[in-house]
Amino acid sequence: MISNSEELTIKIGEELGKLLNPGTIIALRGELGSGKTVLVKGIARGLDVKEEPNSPTFVIMNAYEGRIPLYHFDLYRISGKDELEGIGYEDFFFGDGVTVVEWADRVEDVFPENTIKIEIKILEKRGTEDFVSLNNENSNIRDINIEGEDKWLSSFRSTVELVLPILTK
Ligand SMILES: Nc1ncnc2c1ncn2[C@@H]1O[C@H](COP(=O)(O)OP(=O)(O)OP(=O)(O)O)[C@@H](O)[C@H]1O
Ligand SMILES: [Mg+2]
Repeated sequence: MISNSEELTIKIGEELGKLLNPGTIIALRGELGSGKTVLVKGIARGLDVKEEPNSPTFVIMNAYEGRIPLYHFDLYRISGKDELEGIGYEDFFFGDGVTVVEWADRVEDVFPENTIKIEIKILEKRGTEDFVSLNNENSNIRDINIEGEDKWLSSFRSTVELVLPILTK
């Protein structure tokens, strides 16, 4: 789906957060500044987390209390899987919270089959329908691609479709 503002990405994250169950893992990919943390802020809202997550600069993980606990990992600076094992990541990944991982591509082999995969791309609009991938920090357009179990994904899509027209008014 396409988002043309930070607010819309937060709203998409919020709808996503509302639909998540304990034990869900979300792997986020996308270049620097693509909006991974922005999406996590929305997910936190959807989970009724009172605080606003930000980028954990020197810690790999921040935990937040909500309807379901939120474990927010940022693997940008991780040295390898050993470091994740050192903090006992499995207790979070396979616990009863929701785990969201920025820079998931840094340590691919820790994610189970049922992980929800989200990739955010920065796009520049060209013409009416064509979007071109671009390393452009001035663009507010993001392509948010979500992969997950069919049934879950279609119910998420229909929820977002209901909410989106209200947002663009
Ligand atoms: N449609 C959009 N969705 C999300 N963010 C947007 C959008 N348009 C512009 N932005 C801006 O893009 C930036 C996204 O920053 P954010 O910290 O979420 O990126 P990130 O992917 O987490 O980067 P990093 O890899 O450094 O953690 C923010 O400054 C935000 O305002
Ligand atoms: Mg970030």
